Amino acid sequence: MLKTYFPIALLVLVKVLLALADKDYYWRDYDGTIPEDAVIGGRDNNNKNIYIGQAYIKDKGLVVVQIDQGKRSVYAEMDGIQLVDQNIKILCGPSYQFYWIPSNLSKLHTDVKEKVLVVGGHEDAAKRYFVGRINCADGFCIGKVLEQGYQDRSVFYGVDRSGHQLKTDSYEVLVNEAIINVRES
Ligand SMILES: *[C@@H]1O[C@H](CO)[C@@H](O)[C@H](O)[C@H]1NC(C)=O
Repeated sequence: MLKTYFPIALLVLVKVLLALADKDYYWRDYDGTIPEDAVIGGRDNNNKNIYIGQAYIKDKGLVVVQIDQGKRSVYAEMDGIQLVDQNIKILCGPSYQFYWIPSNLSKLHTDVKEKVLVVGGHEDAAKRYFVGRINCADGFCIGKVLEQGYQDRSVFYGVDRSGHQLKTDSYEVLVNEAIINVRES
């Protein structure tokens, strides 16, 4: 019995390991146009989709940003707020593999253990950022969630559409569930 099924079990294991190693999503260079497979991050109050971006800030790191349809530049919150129009990437992949879960500074460490949170960037040689969003004045706003913030607080930082800083302890974080889909297939 064992001898018969062992090669099949091995093959399945190898397939699962390969699939786990190979994430289905990726960050594509953003030039102002929204790729067809861009992951939708929500909507603004005008019912327009918003997207999840990543900007490289020299000597500082990679920060999660919000991309608004039709806009080439994004606001980045990294040691102050700046308007950036280069070195931007946009999150792409199968939309059905992503969902948002409510989290906050006291719950995030549990979510990190139980779910595959999308890593959206990092401070140079330091902490990772997850992708977060909150309800802001004009729809959803996308921003960064510190894996472990200052004084061990996992907080959300973002920028609203007028360029003002957003900071809060409660937010939603982006989860990727590719692994579950692999097990089902
Ligand atoms: C975080 O969320 C949990 C679960 O929803 C809740 O019980 C807790 O009070 C929240 N903590 C803060 C600081 O908001």
